[in-house]
Amino acid sequence: MKKKTWRATLFSLAIGLLMLVSACGSTEKVNSGETDSKEKEKLRVVTDAAYAPMESMDGDKIVGFDVDIVDAVLKEAGYDYELVHVGWDPLFVELKSKRADIGISSITIDEDRKQTYDFSLPYFESINKILVPEDSNIQSGADLKGKTVAVQNGTTGQTVAEGILGKNNKDIKKFENNVLAIMELLKGGADAVVADNAVVEEYVKNNPNKKLKVVTDSSFPSEFYGMMLPKGSKIKEDLDKAIKKIVENGTYADTYKKVFGSEPNLQELEK
Ligand code: ARG
Repeated sequence: MKKKTWRATLFSLAIGLLMLVSACGSTEKVNSGETDSKEKEKLRVVTDAAYAPMESMDGDKIVGFDVDIVDAVLKEAGYDYELVHVGWDPLFVELKSKRADIGISSITIDEDRKQTYDFSLPYFESINKILVPEDSNIQSGADLKGKTVAVQNGTTGQTVAEGILGKNNKDIKKFENNVLAIMELLKGGADAVVADNAVVEEYVKNNPNKKLKVVTDSSFPSEFYGMMLPKGSKIKEDLDKAIKKIVENGTYADTYKKVFGSEPNLQELEK
Protein backbone atom coordinates (compact mmCIF):
# COMPACT_ATOMS: atom_id res chain seq x y z
CA MET A 1 0.00 0.00 0.00
CA LYS A 2 2.77 2.36 0.95
CA LYS A 3 4.68 1.41 -2.20
CA LYS A 4 1.68 2.23 -4.35
CA THR A 5 1.32 5.74 -2.91
CA TRP A 6 4.98 6.36 -3.53
CA ARG A 7 4.55 5.33 -7.15
CA ALA A 8 1.49 7.49 -7.56
CA THR A 9 3.35 10.47 -6.17
CA LEU A 10 6.20 9.89 -8.55
CA PHE A 11 3.78 9.55 -11.42
CA SER A 12 1.97 12.80 -10.70
CA LEU A 13 5.27 14.52 -10.19
CA ALA A 14 6.38 13.38 -13.62
CA ILE A 15 3.13 14.55 -15.16
CA GLY A 16 3.51 17.86 -13.40
CA LEU A 17 7.03 18.25 -14.69
CA LEU A 18 5.90 17.40 -18.19
CA MET A 19 3.15 20.00 -18.03
CA LEU A 20 5.60 22.57 -16.75
CA VAL A 21 8.06 21.87 -19.54
CA SER A 22 5.40 22.05 -22.21
CA ALA A 23 4.02 25.24 -20.69
CA CYS A 24 7.48 26.76 -20.80
CA GLY A 25 7.81 25.64 -24.37
CA SER A 26 4.62 27.33 -25.37
CA THR A 27 5.50 30.50 -23.48
CA GLU A 28 8.69 30.60 -25.45
CA LYS A 29 6.77 30.31 -28.67
CA VAL A 30 4.45 33.19 -27.79
CA ASN A 31 7.45 35.26 -26.83
CA SER A 32 9.48 34.51 -29.89
CA GLY A 33 6.86 36.29 -31.95
CA GLU A 34 7.34 39.30 -29.73
CA THR A 35 11.11 39.02 -29.68
CA ASP A 36 11.19 40.12 -33.29
CA SER A 37 9.39 43.37 -32.63
CA LYS A 38 11.18 43.75 -29.34
CA GLU A 39 14.53 43.64 -31.10
CA LYS A 40 13.14 46.39 -33.25
CA GLU A 41 12.61 48.66 -30.30
CA LYS A 42 11.15 52.10 -30.90
CA LEU A 43 14.04 54.23 -32.14
CA ARG A 44 14.85 57.71 -30.90
CA VAL A 45 15.67 59.90 -33.90
CA VAL A 46 17.10 63.34 -33.15
CA THR A 47 17.43 66.48 -35.26
CA ASP A 48 18.02 70.23 -35.24
CA ALA A 49 14.85 71.47 -36.87
CA ALA A 50 16.08 74.94 -37.84
CA TYR A 51 17.37 74.09 -41.31
CA ALA A 52 14.58 74.44 -43.84
CA PRO A 53 13.84 72.85 -46.26
CA MET A 54 15.72 69.90 -44.74
CA GLU A 55 14.25 69.99 -41.23
CA SER A 56 12.21 72.73 -39.63
CA MET A 57 9.32 73.27 -37.27
CA ASP A 58 5.84 73.79 -38.67
CA GLY A 59 3.95 74.62 -35.49
CA ASP A 60 4.83 71.69 -33.27
CA LYS A 61 5.47 69.38 -36.23
CA ILE A 62 8.91 68.66 -37.66
CA VAL A 63 8.84 68.77 -41.45
CA GLY A 64 11.27 68.66 -44.35
CA PHE A 65 13.18 66.48 -46.76
CA ASP A 66 15.13 64.66 -44.06
CA VAL A 67 11.92 64.00 -42.16
CA ASP A 68 10.31 62.37 -45.20
CA ILE A 69 13.45 60.38 -45.95
CA VAL A 70 13.93 59.01 -42.45
CA ASP A 71 10.24 58.13 -42.34
CA ALA A 72 10.42 56.23 -45.64
CA VAL A 73 13.63 54.46 -44.60
CA LEU A 74 12.36 53.39 -41.19
CA LYS A 75 9.02 52.24 -42.59
CA GLU A 76 10.90 50.21 -45.17
CA ALA A 77 13.18 48.74 -42.51
CA GLY A 78 10.23 48.01 -40.20
CA TYR A 79 11.17 50.24 -37.28
CA ASP A 80 8.88 52.26 -35.10
CA TYR A 81 10.41 55.60 -34.09
CA GLU A 82 9.95 59.01 -32.56
CA LEU A 83 11.57 62.08 -34.11
CA VAL A 84 12.64 64.73 -31.62
CA HIS A 85 14.00 68.24 -32.14
CA VAL A 86 16.88 68.47 -29.69
CA GLY A 87 19.15 71.03 -31.37
CA TRP A 88 22.52 70.66 -33.10
CA ASP A 89 25.04 70.29 -30.25
CA PRO A 90 22.74 68.08 -28.12
CA LEU A 91 22.26 65.81 -31.12
CA PHE A 92 25.96 64.91 -31.08
CA VAL A 93 25.92 64.44 -27.31
CA GLU A 94 22.93 62.09 -27.48
CA LEU A 95 24.43 59.95 -30.22
CA LYS A 96 27.81 59.77 -28.54
CA SER A 97 26.24 58.55 -25.31
CA LYS A 98 23.92 56.22 -27.30
CA ARG A 99 20.84 57.87 -25.83
CA ALA A 100 19.59 58.41 -29.37
CA ASP A 101 19.68 55.85 -32.18
CA ILE A 102 19.77 58.06 -35.27
CA GLY A 103 20.66 61.67 -36.03
CA ILE A 104 19.17 63.08 -39.20
CA SER A 105 19.94 66.74 -39.68
CA SER A 106 21.71 67.39 -42.99
CA ILE A 107 24.75 65.89 -41.31
CA THR A 108 27.79 65.80 -43.56
CA ILE A 109 29.74 62.56 -43.48
CA ASP A 110 33.31 63.61 -42.70
CA GLU A 111 36.49 61.99 -41.44
CA ASP A 112 36.41 63.82 -38.15
CA ARG A 113 32.92 62.68 -37.25
CA LYS A 114 33.64 59.16 -38.46
CA GLN A 115 36.10 58.80 -35.57
CA THR A 116 33.26 59.03 -33.10
CA TYR A 117 30.13 58.00 -35.02
CA ASP A 118 28.97 55.61 -37.68
CA PHE A 119 27.08 56.76 -40.76
CA SER A 120 24.50 55.27 -43.06
CA LEU A 121 25.08 55.29 -46.79
CA PRO A 122 25.01 58.85 -48.18
CA TYR A 123 21.53 60.05 -49.14
CA PHE A 124 22.10 63.64 -50.30
CA GLU A 125 24.78 65.73 -51.97
CA SER A 126 25.50 69.22 -50.73
CA ILE A 127 27.99 72.09 -50.90
CA ASN A 128 28.47 75.16 -48.73
CA LYS A 129 27.41 78.46 -50.28
CA ILE A 130 27.67 82.07 -49.22
CA LEU A 131 24.59 84.10 -48.32
CA VAL A 132 25.10 87.87 -48.65
CA PRO A 133 23.06 91.06 -49.08
CA GLU A 134 22.05 91.70 -52.70
CA ASP A 135 24.43 94.68 -52.96
CA SER A 136 27.44 92.87 -51.44
CA ASN A 137 30.73 92.87 -53.35
CA ILE A 138 31.57 89.36 -52.09
CA GLN A 139 31.89 87.15 -55.17
CA SER A 140 33.86 84.17 -53.93
CA GLY A 141 35.14 82.44 -50.84
CA ALA A 142 38.39 84.40 -51.03
CA ASP A 143 36.41 87.65 -50.76
CA LEU A 144 35.37 86.65 -47.23
CA LYS A 145 38.86 87.57 -46.01
CA GLY A 146 38.63 90.59 -43.74
CA LYS A 147 34.83 90.26 -43.50
CA THR A 148 32.63 89.10 -40.66
CA VAL A 149 31.11 85.70 -41.32
CA ALA A 150 28.24 84.11 -39.39
CA VAL A 151 28.02 80.33 -39.22
CA GLN A 152 26.25 77.66 -37.23
CA ASN A 153 28.67 76.41 -34.60
CA GLY A 154 30.23 73.04 -35.33
CA THR A 155 29.15 72.81 -38.95
CA THR A 156 31.13 72.35 -42.12
CA GLY A 157 30.18 75.98 -42.85
CA GLN A 158 32.39 76.89 -39.90
CA THR A 159 35.20 74.70 -41.28
CA VAL A 160 34.95 76.37 -44.68
CA ALA A 161 34.98 79.85 -43.12
CA GLU A 162 37.98 78.89 -40.96
CA GLY A 163 39.79 77.64 -44.04
CA ILE A 164 39.59 81.17 -45.45
CA LEU A 165 39.77 83.41 -42.38
CA GLY A 166 41.84 81.16 -40.15
CA LYS A 167 40.88 79.20 -37.05
CA ASN A 168 39.95 81.18 -33.92
CA ASN A 169 39.41 84.29 -36.01
CA LYS A 170 37.01 86.55 -34.10
CA ASP A 171 35.48 87.62 -37.40
CA ILE A 172 33.80 84.24 -37.52
CA LYS A 173 30.66 84.50 -35.41
CA LYS A 174 29.29 81.15 -34.32
CA PHE A 175 25.65 80.54 -33.55
CA GLU A 176 23.71 77.72 -31.99
CA ASN A 177 21.57 77.36 -35.10
CA ASN A 178 21.51 78.61 -38.64
CA VAL A 179 18.43 80.80 -38.18
CA LEU A 180 20.39 82.89 -35.67
CA ALA A 181 23.31 83.17 -38.10
CA ILE A 182 20.98 84.51 -40.80
CA MET A 183 19.42 86.94 -38.30
CA GLU A 184 22.89 88.28 -37.57
CA LEU A 185 23.40 88.93 -41.28
CA LEU A 186 20.00 90.64 -41.55
CA LYS A 187 20.71 93.01 -38.68
CA GLY A 188 24.11 93.93 -40.12
CA GLY A 189 26.25 92.08 -37.56
CA ALA A 190 27.83 89.94 -40.29
CA ASP A 191 28.70 90.38 -43.97
CA ALA A 192 27.92 86.80 -44.93
CA VAL A 193 26.59 83.43 -43.78
CA VAL A 194 28.20 80.18 -44.92
CA ALA A 195 25.80 77.23 -44.92
CA ASP A 196 24.51 74.37 -47.05
CA ASN A 197 23.27 75.28 -50.53
CA ALA A 198 19.76 73.87 -50.15
CA VAL A 199 19.21 75.98 -47.06
CA VAL A 200 20.56 79.33 -48.24
CA GLU A 201 18.89 78.94 -51.63
CA GLU A 202 15.56 78.17 -49.97
CA TYR A 203 15.94 81.21 -47.74
CA VAL A 204 16.52 83.60 -50.64
CA LYS A 205 13.64 82.10 -52.58
CA ASN A 206 11.19 82.38 -49.67
CA ASN A 207 12.27 85.83 -48.48
CA PRO A 208 12.58 88.15 -51.49
CA ASN A 209 11.88 91.15 -49.23
CA LYS A 210 15.12 90.52 -47.32
CA LYS A 211 17.14 91.33 -50.47
CA LEU A 212 19.77 88.62 -50.14
CA LYS A 213 21.60 86.56 -52.77
CA VAL A 214 23.63 83.36 -52.87
CA VAL A 215 27.27 83.27 -53.98
CA THR A 216 28.69 79.98 -55.23
CA ASP A 217 32.34 79.09 -54.87
CA SER A 218 32.89 75.83 -56.71
CA SER A 219 36.23 75.32 -54.96
CA PHE A 220 34.29 74.50 -51.78
CA PRO A 221 34.24 70.73 -51.30
CA SER A 222 31.25 68.66 -52.26
CA GLU A 223 29.69 66.91 -49.25
CA PHE A 224 27.30 64.06 -48.61
CA TYR A 225 24.73 63.73 -45.87
CA GLY A 226 24.29 60.54 -43.94
CA MET A 227 22.22 59.39 -41.01
CA MET A 228 24.56 59.55 -38.04
CA LEU A 229 24.60 56.60 -35.64
CA PRO A 230 26.31 55.71 -32.41
CA LYS A 231 29.60 53.87 -33.01
CA GLY A 232 28.92 50.18 -33.50
CA SER A 233 25.19 50.69 -34.12
CA LYS A 234 23.48 47.45 -35.03
CA ILE A 235 20.85 49.07 -37.25
CA LYS A 236 23.27 50.39 -39.88
CA GLU A 237 22.80 47.41 -42.17
CA ASP A 238 19.00 47.66 -42.01
CA LEU A 239 19.15 51.39 -42.75
CA ASP A 240 21.52 50.98 -45.68
CA LYS A 241 19.35 48.28 -47.19
CA ALA A 242 16.28 50.49 -46.80
CA ILE A 243 18.04 53.52 -48.31
CA LYS A 244 18.95 51.45 -51.37
CA LYS A 245 15.37 50.22 -51.55
CA ILE A 246 13.73 53.66 -51.50
CA VAL A 247 16.15 54.86 -54.17
CA GLU A 248 15.29 51.83 -56.32
CA ASN A 249 11.54 51.99 -55.87
CA GLY A 250 11.27 55.70 -56.65
CA THR A 251 10.23 56.90 -53.19
CA TYR A 252 13.46 58.89 -52.90
CA ALA A 253 12.96 60.64 -56.25
CA ASP A 254 9.32 61.42 -55.41
CA THR A 255 10.31 62.99 -52.11
CA TYR A 256 13.10 64.93 -53.77
CA LYS A 257 10.76 66.27 -56.46
CA LYS A 258 8.17 67.22 -53.87
CA VAL A 259 10.68 69.29 -51.88
CA PHE A 260 13.04 70.65 -54.56
CA GLY A 261 10.89 70.58 -57.69
CA SER A 262 13.53 68.76 -59.75
CA GLU A 263 14.95 65.30 -60.37
CA PRO A 264 17.70 64.09 -58.04
CA ASN A 265 21.12 63.22 -59.42
CA LEU A 266 21.22 59.63 -58.25
CA GLN A 267 24.53 58.79 -59.93
CA GLU A 268 26.39 61.09 -57.53
CA LEU A 269 24.96 59.19 -54.57
CA GLU A 270 25.78 55.78 -55.98
CA LYS A 271 29.48 56.53 -56.34
N1 ARG B 1 25.93 69.88 -43.42
C1 ARG B 1 26.48 70.70 -42.39
C2 ARG B 1 27.22 69.86 -41.39
O1 ARG B 1 27.01 68.69 -41.32
C3 ARG B 1 25.44 71.54 -41.67
C4 ARG B 1 24.31 70.79 -41.09
C5 ARG B 1 23.45 71.61 -40.16
N2 ARG B 1 22.22 70.96 -39.90
C6 ARG B 1 21.23 71.51 -39.17
N3 ARG B 1 20.11 70.86 -39.06
N4 ARG B 1 21.38 72.67 -38.66
O2 ARG B 1 28.03 70.34 -40.65
